[in-house]
Formats: sequence, C-alpha cells, structure tokens
Amino acid sequence: MRVVLVGSGGREAALAWRLARSPSLSELWVTGENPGWPPGTSERSAATVAAQAELAREVGADLVVVGPEGPLVEGLADALHRLGIPCFGPTQAAARLESSKAATKEICAAAGVPTAAAVIADRDDRASMARAEARCARGRVVVKADGLAAGKGVIVCESPGQAAGALEQLAHLGGASARLVLEDLLEGPEVSVFALCDGARAVALPSAQDHKQLLDGGRGPNTGGMGAICPCPLVDHEQAEALVAAVHQPVIAELARRGHPYRGVLYAGLMLTRDGPMLLEFNVRFGDPECQAMMPLWGDDPLPWLHGAAIGSLPAGAPRFAPGAACCVVLASAGYPARSDRGRIIPEPEPTEGVIVFHAGTRRDRAGLLRTDGGRVLGITGTGPGLEVARSRAYAAVEGWRFEGAQLRTDIGLSVVAAHTAEP
Ligand code: AMP
Ligand code: GLY
Repeated sequence: MRVVLVGSGGREAALAWRLARSPSLSELWVTGENPGWPPGTSERSAATVAAQAELAREVGADLVVVGPEGPLVEGLADALHRLGIPCFGPTQAAARLESSKAATKEICAAAGVPTAAAVIADRDDRASMARAEARCARGRVVVKADGLAAGKGVIVCESPGQAAGALEQLAHLGGASARLVLEDLLEGPEVSVFALCDGARAVALPSAQDHKQLLDGGRGPNTGGMGAICPCPLVDHEQAEALVAAVHQPVIAELARRGHPYRGVLYAGLMLTRDGPMLLEFNVRFGDPECQAMMPLWGDDPLPWLHGAAIGSLPAGAPRFAPGAACCVVLASAGYPARSDRGRIIPEPEPTEGVIVFHAGTRRDRAGLLRTDGGRVLGITGTGPGLEVARSRAYAAVEGWRFEGAQLRTDIGLSVVAAHTAEP
C-alpha cells in the first residue's frame, strides 16, 4: 500500500514509526519535515489541503492518513473522496464533532450520550448572553469557545469573578468564540478513549491518559499534553469497549442517520464522575501525545484497520495490542506553552532498550546538529510489561536527551501506578 501521512509532529512521528513496520506498506509519503521520520520515508512539503490532495493523486496513494484536525476541518477527506482516494479521517461535516462544541452538544443530546449540563450563547444575541452572564454569576462553570482555538478556548472557573473574566478573555479569540458553551464544572479523573470507525461500526482501541497541565500534580497552565500513558489502568479493555458502545457507537449512528458517516479515529475525552462517565470533548484524530504511547503497543498490522475504516469496511474482530504498557514523557522548550525558545542543541544518546524517541519540534541544522524547534520537542516513550517498568525506562532515557531549558513533568503515570500498587 502506498500511504500519504499528513502532519509532521509527535503524533505523526509515532504513526510513521508504526506504519513503517507494517508488512502491507510499500511507500510512505509525508507532507512536512521531521528529523525522526523512519528511513525510506519520502518527504514532499504540502501545507494546504489542495497540495495534500494533489500529492496523494500524483503518487497514486492507496490511503491517506490524516494526523491533525486542521486539514479535516478544512475538507481534505472531501477533496480525496472526489478523487476516489480513501482517507483515514472524517469529512468536514463529520469533523464538526471537533470544530463545533455547540454542534457536539446537540448531537450528544440526540444520541443519548451524557455530557455536562450547558448554556449555549451567541455573542451577538443579547438574550442568550444574558443567560450566559446569569450562569457565570453562579460560579463553578467551564467557559468554552465553540470553535477551534488551539487549546486556548476552554477556561475552568471556580468563582463568578473568574467566569466573568473568562467571557471577556474568550472574546479575543474572534470567530472561534462567536458562540460560547458554558458547562457545569465536573469532577473526576480524565481518560481518553479512542475508536476506529468505518461509518457504521466503532471498534475500541486501548484507553490512554494525557497529562495536560505543565507542572507536576496537575498544576500550572494547560498545554497540548506533557505526557501520556497507554492503556490507562482506570479503564481496562472491557471498560473501553463498554464506553465505545455507550459513547462512540450512538454518535456515529446519529451522524450516519444525518448522512455524514464518520470514518477515521474518534477520540472521546471523558471524565469519570461520581454520576458515571461524561463526555468532555470529541476530537476527530488521534490524541497527541496519547498516540505516541499507543502506537508502540499495536501488535497486528495496523494498515488493514486504517484502510478498512477509510473505505467503510473495518475487518471483523478487533485489532491486537501487546499486553504491556507504554509511558510517553514530553520534553518541552523553555517558555512553553506561552512561547517557545528555539535553537538549543539536543544531545542524541545511543538508543536504549524498550525506549522509542519521537520527534515533535526538532530540526537538523546545516552542520547536522539536532536543535529544538517548537514547544513540545520530543516524546520519549518507554514500553514494558507493566506501567512501572515503562515509566522507569522512559525517565531513565530522558536524562540523555535533556537540552538547555528543557521542561518536563516527573509524574507522568505516577498517580495511577501509586493507586494501583496501593490496592491490596
Ligand atoms: P476540552 O477541550 O473541552 O476537553 O477541555 C479541556 C480541558 O478542560 C479538559 O481536558 C478538562 O480538564 C477541562 N474541562 C472541560 N470541560 C470540563 C467540565 N465540564 N468540567 C470540568 N473540567 C472540564
Ligand atoms: N492530548 C490532547 C489532544 O490531542 O488534544
């Protein structure tokens, strides 16, 4: 199979690493630079949807795998379908699950999927903004921009004062916050549950857990994700299957009913509350860094699964995953997430057993030195028979890759390991 992979960050590095090991792969094309691409990968810069579709046509792609949400929301899958090229990733209409939080609320209500109670308000509609302000005055609310906001569109507010400030702050996002969703503040651990979808059927992948805040203990500002574990011990495989049956399956059935079959991976960010699991958000792609912890564990050939989802016909059964666990620790640049320092030299130690290093924000300079070139720089993934070994391998390897100013969390996967080992 000739595959074009769209995207060039840590998630795509992990997808490329896994695809390169597929016996069905004949050629792998990528659309951007990443010094960590597997040997033999062909690179052709394609930054727009038009250029990506044209590249797929030119190289005779059998499958296009789309890493990030941007091209999907802009209609890459639609463009590829017009060319008759299978795309792993939903159409623009189905990608509304990520591009509009208000639309997602409505679809979840229609599909019977539990989410937090919410007020939806339009900035240019006075009556609905008055309802939003009244909701803010009650405090304990999460104020969200409806549209894509690169991780800056959600503000968790404990007090009425914070909530009023959040309304003002989100106004600076422009169009993405023309509509607002104000949700009740829920409590509980968060997990990521992924399903492969072929328009009709949703098949569970292992659960994962991201660590979104910058600092240990879940303190500090939100980031794209500072590390992840897979699977998440809070949700074993049977529980992941039950969640997919309760959340993903009814949502894709609802989308199919509306004439928008969902093909690709559907990512549910769930909170395990006292009243049961609640959906916080959908994403129409793999999570990053969750994908970096998941791909090393994928046991059978992933290509029939990705291709099957893309053509609307997943294989029977479920994909096989290795019985162990993986832990991905992100090394980020100084200043991240507000800004990112660039150009620091990254040492490149010898490979260590049970560790894969994915490049997310690096570049090679003219002299051949590897340098930092973004916020999240490296994803250092340890694997092992259990989470404890995976963690210790990842953290041992981190030492060799530290660059000047590197930021990292020291507690990726720690709370679940501690909770698990504390059990009798
Ligand atoms: P989202 O992009 O909607 O997943 O929101 C980003 C983060 O905000 C989530 O990962 C949660 O940590 C937090 N969050 C979102 N919605 C809620 C909610 N209703 N209650 C508590 N925290 C939330
Ligand atoms: N890990 C969070 C995300 O990919 O959105």
